[in-house]
Amino acid sequence: MRARPGVAYAVPMKSDAQHVIYLSRLAPDRDWTVFGSVCATARTRNADEGIAGVLLFDGERFLQWLQGPAERVASLMRAITADARHTDLRVLLQAPRPAAAAAGSWRAGFVDAEAMDAFAALDTADPEALLDGLARLIACADLEPAPPSGAPRATPPACGMKES
Ligand SMILES: Cc1cc2nc3c(=O)[nH]c(=O)nc-3n(C[C@H](O)[C@H](O)[C@H](O)COP(=O)(O)O)c2cc1C
Repeated sequence: MRARPGVAYAVPMKSDAQHVIYLSRLAPDRDWTVFGSVCATARTRNADEGIAGVLLFDGERFLQWLQGPAERVASLMRAITADARHTDLRVLLQAPRPAAAAAGSWRAGFVDAEAMDAFAALDTADPEALLDGLARLIACADLEPAPPSGAPRATPPACGMKES
């Protein structure tokens, strides 16, 4: 199942592994310190829940890719959707994943606003383009020690959305 662009997260019918990509915007009454507090919660809770993923922040927008057991991802997405620290949440991709890919850890990092702009302009009806764009952003973000297993990977040159 894949969400239509701009549509809220749809609770999946089967308890397969799922992955989700969404974009959201820091709430106007909040500042960038939200990123730190979200990371502190997510790092522990996602590990406890068997959820892997990446959270990228450009100072204004969040881009998160999450993967894990469908019902846990659904429950986390309910909490995230209701979280007043961000707004304008748009689910760009919601799709089943092979169980083998649905393992790994959770990482977060900053990305450049221009790269985020380019990602936000991608065709949301094209999952391959979204995953490729995500891989490029991940490659440019300062994720240590490494992106989680199962995360989309870019082949170099990866930084920025356009080949130079
Ligand atoms: C942009 C953003 C991303 C978030 N990502 C996660 C996440 O990956 N894991 C997590 O447990 N909470 C995440 N949160 C926090 C949740 O929205 C929520 O505060 C947290 O899960 C606690 O939920 P609860 O109060 O219902 O227990 C995120 C919040 C924001 C604003």
